[in-house]
Amino acid sequence: MERTIEWLDDTNEVKLIDQTKLPLEKSHIVTSSHERMARVIEVMEIRGAPAIGAAAGMGMSLAAIESKAKTKDELLGFLEKAAVTLNTRPTAVNLTWATARMLRVARGAEGSPDDIIKRLIEEGKEIAEEDVRMSRSMGEQALSVIKPGFTIQTICNAGSLATVHLGTVGAVVRVAHEKYDGDIKVYAAETRPRQQGAKLTVFEFMEDDIDVTLITDGMIGTVFREGRVDCCVVGADRIVRTGHVINKIGTYTMAITAKYHNIPFYSVVPMSTIDWETNVEDVVIEERDPDEIRIINDQYVTVPDAKVYNPAFDVTPPELVTAIITDKGIVQNPNEEKMLKLRDL
Ligand code: MRU
Repeated sequence: MERTIEWLDDTNEVKLIDQTKLPLEKSHIVTSSHERMARVIEVMEIRGAPAIGAAAGMGMSLAAIESKAKTKDELLGFLEKAAVTLNTRPTAVNLTWATARMLRVARGAEGSPDDIIKRLIEEGKEIAEEDVRMSRSMGEQALSVIKPGFTIQTICNAGSLATVHLGTVGAVVRVAHEKYDGDIKVYAAETRPRQQGAKLTVFEFMEDDIDVTLITDGMIGTVFREGRVDCCVVGADRIVRTGHVINKIGTYTMAITAKYHNIPFYSVVPMSTIDWETNVEDVVIEERDPDEIRIINDQYVTVPDAKVYNPAFDVTPPELVTAIITDKGIVQNPNEEKMLKLRDL
């Protein structure tokens, strides 16, 4: 897989894969506007927590260029507004993490507005580079629990497309595939309503010759009961310090089902996805447009004004989580004390 998002040095623009067109069409969006970048995130042309963190970071670089600021104060004022504009999705913590990081760099930077803008362009690129390094490291950490011949159940897309490159779950699978001579398999849950599993996970693993089988979300129990799966590996949009995993809707049901069948359940995240501040009950779970559920392929599949509930994410409590795998280390049977130890390593 090529990189999901990149900064174009020649033109100071951002180029990203349009994920709403996959797998039928591989096309790109190129933009120099932070407002367009906010929209890209909102309509999920780019999605997945680390990828939208990188998009928001580069969105701040674009905003800095667009500001045409003559003073540092003017630049900071523009950037503060841009950070609000870019935060179009509430659950993935990487988005606020990246905009806050860019603001912190801008506030601390010395020199003319042009010097600070150059510094911000570098920082936006560095967020993306760090993400690639963290992915590889998560994949390597996971080798201690993922054995040759394993079949991994996943949900949504936490692959290369959900990050800058490789993925979180994607890195776990790709590094194992590399080390174990291809002896690794994946079951991908379709993931209603946006079907990131069917549209993105299957696509990118097939592109890399990784053995992947598509199932509908309702088949997870059957697949577990039939002994087809060795472990579950999912990403997260946010993990809080108590070890609660906030991830794509359906993850919680998968974790309960895994517990019943004694199947280990892992969540794999870069450190940038861990929120040390917010209490689990204060995390905002994004609710999306009811038409995501009512319409499939531009056609209503239900009564057009059917009442709908469409939360995009759910919360899996730590007692259902076998381990949290990060680029910094693994936390077995997570709780607050162990999570804080990881933070302070
Ligand atoms: O709504 P999405 O597609 O942005 O949701 C993505 C997920 O839930 C992923 O599992 C999560 O962001 C981790 S991506 C490495």
